[in-house]
Amino acid sequence: MIIQLSDGRQLPVEMHKVRIVQKTSLPPAEHRLRAMAEAGYNTFLLRTRDVFLDMLTDSGTNAMSDNQQAAMMVSDDAYAGSESFYRLTAAVKDVWGFEYVLPVHQGRAAEHLLAKVFVKPGSVVPMNYHFTTTRAHIELAGGSILEIFTDEALNTQSSFPFKGNLDLDKFQRVVEEYGAERIAYVRMEATTNLLGGQPFSLSNLREVRRIASQHGILVVLDASLISENAYFIKQRENDYQSKSIQEIMREIMSLADIVYLSGRKSTNVRGGLIATNDRKIYSDLLAWLPVYEGFATYGGMSTKEIEAMAVGIREMVDINVAGSSAEFVKYFVERLHANGVPVVTPPGGLACHLDARRFIPHIPQINYPAGALAAAVYLASGVRPMERGTLSSDRDKDGNEVLADLELVRLAVPRRVYSLSQIEYAIDRITWLHRHCDLIGGLKFVEEPPVLRFFFGKLAPLGDWGSRLVAAYQRDFGMDC
Ligand SMILES: Cc1ncc(COP(=O)(O)O)c(C=O)c1O
Repeated sequence: MIIQLSDGRQLPVEMHKVRIVQKTSLPPAEHRLRAMAEAGYNTFLLRTRDVFLDMLTDSGTNAMSDNQQAAMMVSDDAYAGSESFYRLTAAVKDVWGFEYVLPVHQGRAAEHLLAKVFVKPGSVVPMNYHFTTTRAHIELAGGSILEIFTDEALNTQSSFPFKGNLDLDKFQRVVEEYGAERIAYVRMEATTNLLGGQPFSLSNLREVRRIASQHGILVVLDASLISENAYFIKQRENDYQSKSIQEIMREIMSLADIVYLSGRKSTNVRGGLIATNDRKIYSDLLAWLPVYEGFATYGGMSTKEIEAMAVGIREMVDINVAGSSAEFVKYFVERLHANGVPVVTPPGGLACHLDARRFIPHIPQINYPAGALAAAVYLASGVRPMERGTLSSDRDKDGNEVLADLELVRLAVPRRVYSLSQIEYAIDRITWLHRHCDLIGGLKFVEEPPVLRFFFGKLAPLGDWGSRLVAAYQRDFGMDC
C-alpha cells in the first residue's frame, strides 16, 4: 500500500507482519571476492551462505502467508483423487473461470507439455517476448519463436506503460507470411520477464484475441506474473482504475484458450499448472501428463504444494498482495534513477533492472557486460543479481554468439521478503558502484555448457578488475563490510 507522508513523499508500506524470520549475514568484500572466483563469476553458482540479499530471482523465494502454511497441514496425500487437487480446481474456477486443470511440477514443465502437443517441426510461435525455458522447449520440439514486440519494448529509457504489448501489425503480417496452419499458438507473457517485467494492456490482449480468432489460432497466456500485470493495468490503463484486481484478472483469462504458470512467482509455491475450458485441449495434454509429470491429480507437485497454491490463487487478487513486489520495485527503480544510475523504465513487475549497456558502455557485448555487472554488484554489496543478456542466450547452430537485444542485470524483489532498509542498502552500494564503473571489466568463458549456459557456465574476468574493485570498496567502506 502507498502511504503519503507529511513531507509529500510516497512510501510503499507492507500490509503484513513478519512472524518467522531467517538469519542472513553480510560477508566482507574480501570473502565475496573469493566466493565470486569459486563461482566462476556466475552468480547462479554462489552459495547462499555467501550472499547477503538474494535478488537472483523471485521464483520460489517469496514468503508464503499464514493461511498457505496452514492449508499445507490439511493436505490429502493420495496418488489419485486427492481432495487437495479438487480444492485447487475450485480456486482456479472461482478466480480465473477455468474448468480443467493440469498440475505440473513447475512452469517449464507446462511449457514442455504445450510444446509436445502443439509444436511440430517447422511450426512458429509468435509472442510478445520469449522466456529462456519457453524458447528452449519450442526449439527442442522443432519449432521457432517469432518475437513481435512493440518498438518501445527495447527502449530502456521509456515511459511507455505497456512495453509488453504485442505489435498487432506485425502479428497480421506473420499470419499472412506463415499461414495460420504453421502457427502453433500465439503466446502472451504477462509482464515479460526478459524485457524487465513489462506488462501488456488489456486492449492489446483483446486485439490479439480478435486477430487469433479470425484465423483459428490458439491464444496461450503465460500467467507466471499475472498479479503484477493485472496490478499495472489497474494503475496504468484507462477504464480499469475502478476495477478490482479480481475483475481485471478474470477479463484477462477470458481472452485466453490456455493459461499456464510457474506457481513459484505469483502464487508463492513451488509448482505450476495449465488450465483451459476446452475439453479436447485438456484431453490432448492429459495424455502426456503421467508420462512426464505424474497422475492427473498431482502432476509432479506434492499435495502440500497443491493446497498452498489453491490458497495462493485466491490471495493473489488482494491488491496488497498483487502490488507487494511492484511497489518495492518502483521505489528501488526511482531512487536509483534519481541517483543517475541507468535503470529500465518504467518500473516493471518482478525486479529492478540495471541497463548494463549504459552502466558500463566501455565493455563490448561479446565480453558479456550484463554478466560482468552482475558479478560487480555482488562484489560491491553482497547482493546477488542475475544476468539477463547475451550470457542468457545460447549460441546459434554454427556456434556464433547471439547478441541479446538487451543487456540487463536483474535485481529481483521476492514478494514480502526484504525490508525497505535492505533495499536502501542495495541502492547505496549500486550507486557507489556506478560512480566507480570504470573499474569494471569484461568476462570470458572458461567452461561453457551447450544449452541454457547461464545456469552452469564458468567465466573469468578479463584482467584483474575484481581485485581492483574490492580494493576501492575497502578504501571507502573499510575491511569489515
Ligand atoms: C515468464 C516465465 N515463464 C516461465 C518460467 C519457468 O518457470 P519455472 O522456473 O517454474 O520452471 C518462468 C520462470 O522464471 C517465467 O518467468
